[in-house]
Amino acid sequence: SMQTKMQIAIDGPASAGKSTVAKLVAKKLNYIYCDTGAMYRATTWKALQTGVALDDDQALGKMLETMELSFKPNDPEQLVFVDGTDVTTAIRLPEITNNVSLVSAQPSVRKNLTERQQQIASEGGIVMDGRDIGTTVLPKAQVKIFLVASVHERALRRFKENQAKGIDTPLAKLEAEIEARDYKDSHRKVSPLTKADDAILLDTTSLDIAQVTDEIMKIVKNTEK
Ligand code: DC
Repeated sequence: SMQTKMQIAIDGPASAGKSTVAKLVAKKLNYIYCDTGAMYRATTWKALQTGVALDDDQALGKMLETMELSFKPNDPEQLVFVDGTDVTTAIRLPEITNNVSLVSAQPSVRKNLTERQQQIASEGGIVMDGRDIGTTVLPKAQVKIFLVASVHERALRRFKENQAKGIDTPLAKLEAEIEARDYKDSHRKVSPLTKADDAILLDTTSLDIAQVTDEIMKIVKNTEK
């Protein structure tokens, strides 16, 4: 029925538009939105701040045992806090983006954050986006979407976002960065980026945000029937 509080998993490669669309779907359904990428970014931020080596699985696991990580609703962007510090802006800096794949490949990091994510999603009524939500974090999610778009299209979207912020990065550089992150995210040993067998593949290359959101809402409505 419409009352069912579902789990909705949205996975896919970097810059496929996951977070934008996940936020809109959550808003339409009055569900919580959980950005799991922000959790890997926040972990990377703390490791850099405190001098923990980014490939030291054990030390990262220990760091996470006591690290407080929380989201706070805010308009237009929810805020992210680590041990009481607002890291919302800091975790989007290139230093984090370029190091987060290494941190997110560490098994103890994945174990800790996966448990936190499962806790957040336990009561349903959640849209969660990431790389391994449908495969590992919420294997029983009622709706699983795998969003893809061509490298060129994703780089172009990033290019336009950057331009709007007054940042000038050559398109070719963005394409190379996206390809490198795709490769690392898909080839790590633990929970690599893969489409769950029961996830619905949605290619957004020639769709705009509203069209992708509508597609997902249709899938959600069909699931409720
Ligand atoms: O979605 P994003 O670009 O903010 O994610 C940052 C990084 O975190 C991404 O390169 C891979 C990692 N990540 C992950 O390994 N598993 C997730 N569920 C979400 C993100």
